[in-house]
Amino acid sequence: MPREIINVQAGQAGNQIGESFWKTLLAEHGLDEQGMYQGSDPLQLERVGVLFNEVDLPGSKIKYVPRSVQIDLEAGVCNRIRSSSIGSLFRPDTFLTGTTGAGNNWAKGFYTEGAELVDSILEIVRKQAEACDALQGFQVLHSLGGGTGSGLGSLLLSKFREEFPDRILSTYSILPSPKVSETVVEPYNALLAINQLVENSDLAISIDNEALYDIAVRTLKVEHPAFEDLNVLVSQVMCGVTTSLRFPGQLNGDLRKLGLNLVPFPRLHFLMPSYAPFFDPKARAFVRLTVQDLTSAMFDRRNLLVACDPRFGRYLTAATIFRGNVSSREAEYSVLDLQRKNSTQFVEWIPDNVSVSLCSVPPVGQAQAATCLANSTAVQELFKRTLTQFIAMYKRHAFLHWYTGEGMDEMEFSEAESNAHDLISEYQQYQEATTDEDFNEEFEVEVEDVEVEDVEVEEYVEE
Ligand code: GTP
Ligand code: MG
Repeated sequence: MPREIINVQAGQAGNQIGESFWKTLLAEHGLDEQGMYQGSDPLQLERVGVLFNEVDLPGSKIKYVPRSVQIDLEAGVCNRIRSSSIGSLFRPDTFLTGTTGAGNNWAKGFYTEGAELVDSILEIVRKQAEACDALQGFQVLHSLGGGTGSGLGSLLLSKFREEFPDRILSTYSILPSPKVSETVVEPYNALLAINQLVENSDLAISIDNEALYDIAVRTLKVEHPAFEDLNVLVSQVMCGVTTSLRFPGQLNGDLRKLGLNLVPFPRLHFLMPSYAPFFDPKARAFVRLTVQDLTSAMFDRRNLLVACDPRFGRYLTAATIFRGNVSSREAEYSVLDLQRKNSTQFVEWIPDNVSVSLCSVPPVGQAQAATCLANSTAVQELFKRTLTQFIAMYKRHAFLHWYTGEGMDEMEFSEAESNAHDLISEYQQYQEATTDEDFNEEFEVEVEDVEVEDVEVEEYVEE
């Protein structure tokens, strides 16, 4: 029985990356744009119920409908999706839009415009949840730089936490970059959202427009990347990340197991995805890489979706997934070999901290591909970048009146600032932590009297 996930896409970026994700997902599961199955591989349908509802149509046909809610405080993007080629795929009553937008203002999304719409959104979400057999959790798609995805997205996460306290909340959070957008208050919106994500998300999969832009220009040779180009990359990575949730397999089969293997400390759940090889659907380039190539590319800074350098941090944990015709021995060996050769980059106090899983179904248009979701202390660079931009303006109280004008307390800005400082120093602390002698001795004294039974410890939680 599939354990269902509800997808919630909010704001322009959320809905546009969602659109790209659903299109790629249709192809992976052999579905056409109306949600009718046209494929021939039974593996495509075995766990399709994780993200799709099955609806019986006359003539014993089945339509696969995304378990998804599309919201925005302005109607433009959702209207465009509704009238696009995949418009009839979605349940019409799962779209909810406002008229005014949040005008790039987090406070409008969280406190005023967004707050007015939140009950109606929760009603739609509740209906979707009630129809599930065993809901595992949510995935929220949003940007952190605007007002709706960032502010209303944060508000929704806090409401989900309240109403579904034991379900996993995952997010795909798009971080702003001046290379892509020049709205001045984006660092404010992003830091206020990060402040919320620390508490109200279990897995915050961080995707940085700065990195997307660089990959589009450098790897895919797009001269002036548009959102559409960036979103193709996002959808490939999202399909990679969700592979173990959507296809049968041994490891990381649901969001909770993924979280358990990847998040050693509750606040440090900001994950950096990477993908290899990136693929331009227009060029239809068919690159065949060895397993070793895939492995080193996955851990290469240039294939990371966050503009951070993992060589300056240390991996706490990572989950890799290889797709296509890849031997498990080869995959495990090459990951282990990479770890051995770069051992200083992996904390030694979490043994076997990189999991390897396989899925025989390759992504559409590719023979093989690999995705990695890394919990690396290098992610602190992203917070430092945002915090520096935030402080530059906040020091002078620039633009604050737009936020306080929506009833927001200025205190919240300093709280967000100090929470980001704390987060950065927590990452730094674990980056520097070693298998400390003193700590071991202390620990040995404590456990001296405990009888240790002969138990087998599994490396990772498996199904
Ligand atoms: P308001 O329009 O302010 O109500 O909120 P919103 O959530 O609709 O804002 P939006 O998603 O447009 O947020 C702006 C941020 O998202 C900027 O950093 C943009 O660069 C980024 N962004 C907008 N659309 C896309 C997209 O389709 N893909 C990507 N990768 N980033 C986007
Ligand atoms: Mg918008």
